[in-house]
Parts: sequence; structure tokens; C-alpha cells
Amino acid sequence: MILPIREYPDPVLRQPARAVATVDEAVRSLSANMLETMYAARGIGLAAPQVGHGLRIICVDISAESNQGQVLVNPRILRKEGVLEGEEGCLSVPGLFEMVRRAAWIEIQALNDQGEPFIAEAEGLLAVCIQHELDHLEGVLFIDRLSELRRQRLKKQLLAARSGGQDEKARSSPRGASRRAPIVQNSLHVTQGQSH
Ligand code: NI
Repeated sequence: MILPIREYPDPVLRQPARAVATVDEAVRSLSANMLETMYAARGIGLAAPQVGHGLRIICVDISAESNQGQVLVNPRILRKEGVLEGEEGCLSVPGLFEMVRRAAWIEIQALNDQGEPFIAEAEGLLAVCIQHELDHLEGVLFIDRLSELRRQRLKKQLLAARSGGQDEKARSSPRGASRRAPIVQNSLHVTQGQSH
């Protein structure tokens, strides 16, 4: 089932998510719906708060074929290294793409959708994507990671766009939408080789 994606400035996006106590059928069902929602929106990652659930669940899939979907429950970064700056977008902040600096490599611990713990490494785009989704679990959006000046400017633009209804217009017109922003959202276009 495709779930409605909450958009800025929805307060649910600002609330820290709580840990999942038991990975049960309800969690598996939500995870499956999150993956379906992510694919439908052509995103490469989605966090539960983006669909209105304050739980520590994220899903990611950076594959071109969209067949490598992974669910991470109660994910946590154990180690991180390096710096990678890339352009990010967010399904909850449609139409906006900004350069964000992240760790280039991470080691994470999480439960899978069967409740089994695992430790994994990720680098490049996948590492960026996971860090972006982990931020969502803390109520943090990628726009919070920009400079104060840039953030204030964007905030005004975003709120003006919403009240002016330009948002709806862009969404109902595929041509307009694609002019404003690439269709694939959520941390695409990480520029490799810019690690420093
Ligand atoms: Ni996002």
C-alpha cells in the first residue's frame, strides 16, 4: 500500500522517532508499505516519520533496477570515516536539491525485517542515503545541514511556494516538475571524487 508522504513543514518530520521494541507483523507491514511508497515516489530512501510513523525504521535502495530494497530497524552508526559532499534532495522537501557534507563511509548496526541483528558497511551514495534517513529519525532534515544564511533563504522560499500553491502546480505537471527538479529524489547525484 502506498502511503502519503508528509512534507515540510509537517511537525511529524521534527519529532524524534522511538525505537521499535519488537519486529512483529505490524512492523513488517509498515516496512513493506514504506518500500512500496519509496519506489512509487522514485526515491532511494525513506524513513518512517516521512509516512507519519514515529518509529526507528528506514528503507533504502540505490540500485538502478530498484530490486535491492533493504529495511533497517533501529539503525545506529557505529563508526564513520571520510567526507563526501553531494547533492541531496528529500521526498519530504520536494523540488529542492542542495549540497550536503556527510561521512564517506559508515559502519551500521540494525535489525532486519525479521528482527535479526546485523552489522554492515556502506560507502558513497548508500552511506549518504543511510545518513540522510538516520537524520529523519532524529527529526532532522537535510536543509538543517546547510549554512544559516542559505537555510533562512530556503525556508522563506519553501513556505512562500506552499502558500502560493506553486507546489501543487508543479506536482500536477510532469514537465514543470521535471524542469524544477530531477524526478529521482533523495540523495542522488553524489559526486564521487569530491571526498576530502
Ligand atoms: Ni529525506
